[in-house]
Amino acid sequence: MKNITTIKGTYDLLPHETEKWREIEDFIHEYMHLHGYGEIRTPAFERTELFVRGVGEETDIVTKEMYSWTDMDKGGTGLTLKPELTAPVVRAYIQHNLGGKSPLQRLYYIDSLFRRERPQKGRQRQFNQFGIEAIGSPHPEQDAEIISMAYFFYQSLGIDSLSVKINSIGSSHIRKPYLALLTNSLTPEIHRFCNTCQTRIDKNPLRLFDCKNDSCQKLLDEFAPMIFDHISDEDKIHFESVVNLLTTMKIPYTHDKKMVRGLDYYTRTTFEVTSSALGAQDALCGGGRYDKLVETLGGNPTPAVGFAAGMERLLLTMSDSDDSDENSTVDIYIAVLFEEAIPVAMVAADEIRRTKGMSVMVETLRRSMKAQMRESNKRKAQYTIIIGEDEYRQNQALIKDMETGQQDNVPISDLSGYFSPDDHHHSDCDCCENSD
Ligand code: HAM
Repeated sequence: MKNITTIKGTYDLLPHETEKWREIEDFIHEYMHLHGYGEIRTPAFERTELFVRGVGEETDIVTKEMYSWTDMDKGGTGLTLKPELTAPVVRAYIQHNLGGKSPLQRLYYIDSLFRRERPQKGRQRQFNQFGIEAIGSPHPEQDAEIISMAYFFYQSLGIDSLSVKINSIGSSHIRKPYLALLTNSLTPEIHRFCNTCQTRIDKNPLRLFDCKNDSCQKLLDEFAPMIFDHISDEDKIHFESVVNLLTTMKIPYTHDKKMVRGLDYYTRTTFEVTSSALGAQDALCGGGRYDKLVETLGGNPTPAVGFAAGMERLLLTMSDSDDSDENSTVDIYIAVLFEEAIPVAMVAADEIRRTKGMSVMVETLRRSMKAQMRESNKRKAQYTIIIGEDEYRQNQALIKDMETGQQDNVPISDLSGYFSPDDHHHSDCDCCENSD
């Protein structure tokens, strides 16, 4: 029978990898706390309509990437595994009247998302994002806070070759005349574009900029007017204020007039942080302002801005320095050399964990002494407790300090008494830091 394996574009995380993920997640929680952002968690699936209305009917996400189905129990409601989190967060913001509780909500999330994209390095079908949404402020300092949080996040992790690309696609009222101009400029050339672009020009011409086809991009360079050149004076002032704040904060940026980003809800600021360490999928994160989304989804008019960052891409930029060890490590390995001693070994392990806070592993494979010592080394144990038959008969066990080689005979009934609470050497716990 053929083995059952993961679905294309999904993957397992094994123990030597989850440790790193947990470190990053801890770092994110701490970073968000430092900035006064509160965590929000939303369900794995939502009504399809939320994304159609929120993200936009003609976007890649909605037209080809969503995992959707019809729930017959709910009278045929369309449901979708969430492909992004801005729309669900705004749904929750409206549903729980968060705006009524505070004029500005600063929210963050870490979550799994689903998009049926062509998998490649840095692009999966189930992937993880962390992100932030600040809902309530129309002012440029809110954009600057969001962009600087993204930039300094990566900088503080030591990721180099960072670059911030920023643009403004103007407020919603400039969209209609610009799109008319765009359609007029591209229509004479539209037969040279791909099929998708040809259908999009009538429905939502801005989405032509999302095309991954090189020749379509070249045609856009040649024939498309740039939206930035058609934004209002207020939009320009907003944009200038944002970039001036970035300059003051010493955040280098480039103005990329072609960057409109592939989701319909953006207004004014759009931005991405990229790293040349990533290759083709070079966006570490992306975001922007979405002043109309709360209203579109049925709430009161409320300005907002945010970003989301791919966790896998972050880990890709960090994996160069990865000397990952396949095995989890422990403080103490208990080698058991005969069956009768197993119960005392297990009781002692439990007692040491509980009373000394040290991590302990007990042999459960009944291997030879040599194999058990090898295992202890592999687990980087600081001590090995050896319970041999002769010693056991005399209520004794041998404790070996793996670093110094020192060996002590200790009564089996008081193995935990041998260790002082300072003995354990977890690399990341508070008590070890304090004892330094
Ligand atoms: P997005 O550009 O679609 O924006 O995704 C943000 C980030 O998620 C990307 O820059 C990338 O790092 C990561 N990402 C996206 N798709 C994949 C994938 N298939 N595999 C791996 N990583 C991926 C949004 O999702 C918006 N909701 C961002 C936002 C928040 N705008 C305002 N607030």
